[in-house]
Amino acid sequence: MTPLLRQVLSQVDGPDPRLNELVSALVTHLHAFVEEVRPTEREWLAGLDFLIETGKMCTPDRNEFILLSDMLGLTSAVDDVNHAGPDNMTPSSVEGPFHSPTPARELGAWISSGPERERGVPTVVHGRVLDCDGTPLAGAVVDLWQADDTGLYDTQDDSQDRGNLRGLFTTDADGRYWFRTIRPSSYPVPTDGTGGRLLHAIGRHPMRPAHLHYRVTADGYRPLTTHVFLAGDPYLGSDAAFAVKDELICHPVAHDTGSEQWEIDGPFEEIAFDLRLVSVNWTEEKA
Ligand code: BEZ
Ligand code: FE
Repeated sequence: MTPLLRQVLSQVDGPDPRLNELVSALVTHLHAFVEEVRPTEREWLAGLDFLIETGKMCTPDRNEFILLSDMLGLTSAVDDVNHAGPDNMTPSSVEGPFHSPTPARELGAWISSGPERERGVPTVVHGRVLDCDGTPLAGAVVDLWQADDTGLYDTQDDSQDRGNLRGLFTTDADGRYWFRTIRPSSYPVPTDGTGGRLLHAIGRHPMRPAHLHYRVTADGYRPLTTHVFLAGDPYLGSDAAFAVKDELICHPVAHDTGSEQWEIDGPFEEIAFDLRLVSVNWTEEKA
């Protein structure tokens, strides 16, 4: 440890021990970074300017810092250290910046009501919410959001009604949920800010593989925020937000004709995805 770092650390002595630990570790890693890469003063100021510019881009509807955290894998790293559970639980995955209030809908409802419904591939999504022993959870709430076929969420696109491609569903007595929508598409994360500039500068593409977002809650269980990804998507191995986990990839089934069961007229795709929640009483010792 350098004398300078020792001196800085010796002055971290606030009333909250956890905050002291966080600040000390962060300062230690930042000093190590400086020792390792020996930035010029110009480079250091450019880094600070980048952070200032990032802050200026933030509004109540847009948080560029969260986007940077997602794009550098930090959000996923924090997610990983906070969601230990049984082997068969559904893994969590980053929330992303596009969750917003969701209209409650009846099971089976269409969540797509704009012109994208004519353009997109009709898709039925269904599954069950279960605990990790396989017991169905009736009355679980499934909050669902997705982008349209051009990659835009309702909150990014004035031509979509608010609530389009979103739905809040309550599972039935067998823990089942289902709804109709269009097949999600891969899309780029917003590139018009500092996040996009960074991606460009380090030679990365901005694409996310096609996905649906879920947030599932049930009494007595840990809330679960996760994604479902579609097998075969070209960006599964290079997600700009590093959110893909094998257990979250499902294989859509294509049907050539409509279905009475799912109330769809012509050809459609079917996505089946069960979610397994972890009891609030689960602890590592019990496993
Ligand atoms: C999203 O899928 O909504 C998202 C997640 C992380 C960064 C940007 C977008
Ligand atoms: Fe998304």
